[in-house]
Parts: sequence; structure tokens; C-alpha cells
Amino acid sequence: MLEMTPRAPRVRIDVLFAADDRRVALLDEVFWSLRETPKQIAPRWLYDERGSELFDEITRLPEYYPTRTEWMILEGCAAEVAELTGATTLVELGSGTSEKTTLLLDALHAVGTLAVFAPVDVSEEILSQSANAIAARYEGIGVEAVVGDFEKHLHSIPKGSPRLLAFLGSTIGNLGPEHRARFLRAVSETLAADDHFLLGIDLVKSPERLEAAYNDSAGITEAFVRNALTVLDRELGSRFDQEGFSFEARWDAENEWVELGLRSLRAQTVALPVLDTDVSFGDGELLRIEVSSKFRREGIEKELAAAGLTVERWWTDPDGDFGLLLATPAVSASETP
Ligand code: AVJ
Repeated sequence: MLEMTPRAPRVRIDVLFAADDRRVALLDEVFWSLRETPKQIAPRWLYDERGSELFDEITRLPEYYPTRTEWMILEGCAAEVAELTGATTLVELGSGTSEKTTLLLDALHAVGTLAVFAPVDVSEEILSQSANAIAARYEGIGVEAVVGDFEKHLHSIPKGSPRLLAFLGSTIGNLGPEHRARFLRAVSETLAADDHFLLGIDLVKSPERLEAAYNDSAGITEAFVRNALTVLDRELGSRFDQEGFSFEARWDAENEWVELGLRSLRAQTVALPVLDTDVSFGDGELLRIEVSSKFRREGIEKELAAAGLTVERWWTDPDGDFGLLLATPAVSASETP
């Protein structure tokens, strides 16, 4: 059953992933992921209220170029995206504060096609704030927000034709190649022939710039990553010793991702009372908190093609730091006249 929380008249919030379910999912997932090699925590759990605030701060850091670069690209191409898609419904996965989305909303509004904005995010607090802000800014449109997980709830995102599905900020980079393939296949199967997929991806560049973006001098990224232990303590009743772990963000040239994690500074065992178990770390063992994959144009186009999506347009900034692409379901042989 969907739980509906009424807000402003034109704002509806469908909670597909309620706080209780979220907690059960976290317990279930973490029980296993702390037994994997390397031990890990999925990035979705980083975005509690504090984590979302810290991420917002990250997007404004001088070293963190992706957000402002994508904004610049969007400023230049939003009108073209609106023309090409003629979308009546804009769905945004992992919408967060939806700041960048206003560029798309403005453009679609100007073309006159937009009827519904559907932001999808795991953080209910951020979602209801941004949903209400957007409803107030655009008088004529309905906001159908979905509290959900883009990996779990793709099947339940609002319909509408034609639809533009936006996945910005290189959030897809949190998924490794196998999860990406599964996710892109699901996106492709969700989209109708006249729908579009707008994807923002961070591009491979010098290790120095990549590592600087995740080792900011103000230490905000470190605080964001360390917040994972605070989340675990709150949910699992554990008492992780922050001092027993050092923060690490390292470019992995083989996998072409930045790996962010916490390295245990000694052999230690941490009790996880809620799971009635404990977890042991070796001296120097890494607890992986997230990977941030970086892309090349040919590589992502191949991945999209394998999922049944054809790239129609590709935009980048003058330095080639970040890419934005518009894809559409490939016409299969049986549909060709
Ligand atoms: C939200 C996954 C795009 O990988 O750059 C930023 C998350 N983590 N700094 C990224 C993040 C640390 C971000 N994504």
C-alpha cells in the first residue's frame, strides 16, 4: 500500500520507502555488506539529515567541480533538451535539493509542455522541502514526489507521455559496472519510445584533480564519509571509534573510480547489538563507503547501447570535465517498418 502524505494542494508525496522499511532494509543489507570483501556500506545510507546537509556543502566546495560544471552545461543546453523531448512529465532520480532541476523546469515551462514534476529521492525531509519549493515557483504544474530508491523503485515512478527521466550529478557513478548494467537495462525497459533519458556523468581526468575533489581542504568530504559510522551507531546500537579509522579517497586507475572509505588503524572488533553480532577489522583493513566511477564517452555509449538506449545528443564543458547526454530507447528490429 502506498502511504500518501498530503502537503500543499498540488504536491503529493508517495512514500514507497517509509522510515520503518528503510531501517529494516538497512539492517538486512548491512548485516551482509559488512561480511563482504571489502567490507562496505551502500551510499544510500549516507543521506540522513546530516549527510544530506554535508553533501550539499560538498557541492559548493572549490575543489568539487562536478556540480557547478554540470550546472554550466545545463544552462547552455536546457532549451534544446526541452525542444527535443517536449516532455509533459519530468522525473528526476536522486533529486536531492532539485537545485539544478530548475534550469530544466524553466526550459520545459517555456516550451509550454510541462504538467508534472516527479522528484524521486530516499530522503523524505529534503524531498518534501524541494517539492513544496518547486510547487510554489511553478504555479501551473503538479508535483508528484516519490520517497524511493532509484535502484529499487523504478517500476513505480510516475507515468506521463512524453516523459523525461533525468539522472544528474553523476550519481550513477556510485554503481559499479554490474549494477550499472542492471540499472540501465531497467531504465531502458521503463521508457516508452517517445521518452528520453538525461544522464549526467563525471569524466575521467587527471588523478590529481580527481583526488583533490574528494580530499577537500575543509574536510567536508571526510565528515560526510565519517557520518556513515554515526548512521551505523544510531541504527545498529554500535559504538564505532572514529579515531580508530582514517579517511581515505583514492583514484583507482584500473576500475576508473575514486574509492572512498575508512581504514582501520588497528585490529579491532566492534559490537553490533541490534544485529546481535560483531564485526572485526584487521589492522589497515578498509571499510568502503562509496565508489565514484568516472566515465569516457565511448564507454558509457557502449553501456547504454547494451541496455537498449541510443545517445541522441552529447554535451560537455570546454575542458571536457563533465558530460551530459540525452538518450532514447533504441528502435528494435521488430518495430522498424
Ligand atoms: C553523489 C555520487 C555523485 O561521487 O561525486 C561527493 C558523492 N561523495 N563527495 C560523487 C560524493 C563524496 C557524489 N555523487
